[in-house]
Parts: sequence; structure tokens; C-alpha cells
Amino acid sequence: MNVLITGVSKGVGLEIAKLFLENGHHVYGISRTESPELKALELQYPEQLFFKLFDLLLPEKIREEVFKSFVSNHIPIHVLINNAAMAYDDIVTNLNIDELRKMFDVNLYSPMFLTKYAIRNMIYNRVEGSIIHISSISAHTGYKGLAMYAASKGALQSFSKNVSREWGERGIRSNIVVPGYMETAMNAKLTQDHKNRIFKRTALKKETDMQSVAETVLFLAGEKSKSITGQEIFVDSGTL
Ligand SMILES: NC(=O)c1ccc[n+]([C@@H]2O[C@H](COP(=O)([O-])OP(=O)(O)OC[C@H]3O[C@@H](n4cnc5c(N)ncnc54)[C@H](OP(=O)(O)O)[C@@H]3O)[C@@H](O)[C@H]2O)c1
Repeated sequence: MNVLITGVSKGVGLEIAKLFLENGHHVYGISRTESPELKALELQYPEQLFFKLFDLLLPEKIREEVFKSFVSNHIPIHVLINNAAMAYDDIVTNLNIDELRKMFDVNLYSPMFLTKYAIRNMIYNRVEGSIIHISSISAHTGYKGLAMYAASKGALQSFSKNVSREWGERGIRSNIVVPGYMETAMNAKLTQDHKNRIFKRTALKKETDMQSVAETVLFLAGEKSKSITGQEIFVDSGTL
């Protein structure tokens, strides 16, 4: 399968890219930087991994930069994984419009435009593709300081549900993976005390394993999940 993934330089996106490569798929990855880990993967899989430096702060450039110069219609897209996101953590009374707009560009508008052009590519190539968006448990449970971030993820979830209804007849599926807390750069600022409070709210009393998230994405991408669409799959250590 040809798989387009955003946010491949680190964290969950890197883990997802590794897993798809190990399973023999072709990965078209996007992020703003090319990390040493990503460079090592490119050396290991020169025929399977293709990378594009692109900033998702610019949804209006997606058609030109991603779907013309990187994955043209001659490359059928079987899977789109909208993984990249940024967190804008603050309490609502500090809400700032510029920060909010930036976050919505990256977390919502770019994933929407990537979906638009990926579906066009799938239709053109007669591909019954799979779209997977990475949301967050904060869209369901609520955490102090995450209202704006959670709102961007909640909107993405509604978008996915409706896309699944709109394109189901063409065999195109759209699902959401909802991870719980994971040890990545996104959470670098959290104290151990804060993390312990998050873990207390899970049935397993621990962080979410990135590999488990990646395996769920792989499952939703392929034939084994062919009857699953419009769903939200929680991979969150059983957050209560
Ligand atoms: N970590 C958690 O606890 C947690 C929990 C629930 C859900 N999630 C979700 O899981 C997904 C992955 O998060 P993560 O924890 O792996 O985060 P991360 O370690 O911060 O990685 C984010 C990835 O997105 C890329 N990215 C960020 N802004 C970008 C932009 N403007 N343009 C292009 N690429 C951009 C980053 O690459 P560059 O910096 O190189 O651009 C990086 O590859 C996100 O959707 C996040 O909301 C995370």
C-alpha cells in the first residue's frame, strides 16, 4: 500500500512509519524537520520511504506542495494518516486568536485539505482507501488547560464521521484513533506529579504504548478492518 503520513519525524508518526515499512508498505512522510531517526529509516528503506519537508501551518499550499510535487495522481494513495498536531495549552481566559488560528491550521484545516485531495486521488485511481485521523483522549474526558486543543480534535472527529458517510459508497473509509497520554515531545513539559495524576485516571494506571497505537492504525489501514468506518477506537490504557 502507498501510505501518506503527517508528522513522521518523531513520536507516534515515526512509530507508525516504522511499522508500515516493516510490513512492506511505501510511506510518503511529511514534517517540518528531518530527524536523525527519520534519516536512519530513509537509509534503511531507500525504495520504500519518501520524505517531504512541509509546514502544515499552510493548508492553502497542500494541493501544490503535497499533491502535485510529492504524491501526484500517478501514485495511488491507499491510506492517509493525519497524525501531526500541535498543542496550544492554556486556560481559556488567556485565549489568544493568533495561537488558536495556528493550532487549527495544523490540527484541523490541514487534515481536512489532505483528506480532500487524498479522496480525489483515491477516486481517480479507483482505490477503496482508508483515512485515519489521530485524535486525543482530551476530546472526551477534558483536562485543565487543554480546552482549545481538545476542541480542534473534537472537530476532526465530527469531520471523520461525516466523511465516512459521504464516501462510504465509494468504498472509502474514515476512522479515528483516540490515544491516551504517551511519552513524546508533545508532553515534555509535564511534571512527574502531573503525569501520575493522568495515569490515576486510567484503568491500567499507566501511559499509552505508542506501539499499540501504531498497530491499531495498521489494522484500520488494511483489509482486516474493511467493515469498520465512522468509528473512534480508543487506545488509552482505559481512561476513566
Ligand atoms: N503525546 C500524547 O500524549 C498524545 C496523546 C493523545 C493524542 N496525541 C496525538 O498524537 C499525534 C502525534 O503526537 P506526538 O505525541 O507524536 O507529537 P510529537 O512527538 O510532538 O510529534 C508531532 C509530529 O508532528 C509534526 N508536526 C508538528 N507540527 C507540524 C507542522 N506545522 N507541519 C508539519 N509537521 C508538523 C512534528 O514534526 P516536526 O516538528 O519535524 O515538524 C512531529 O513529527 C498528534 O495528533 C497528537 O495530538 C498525542
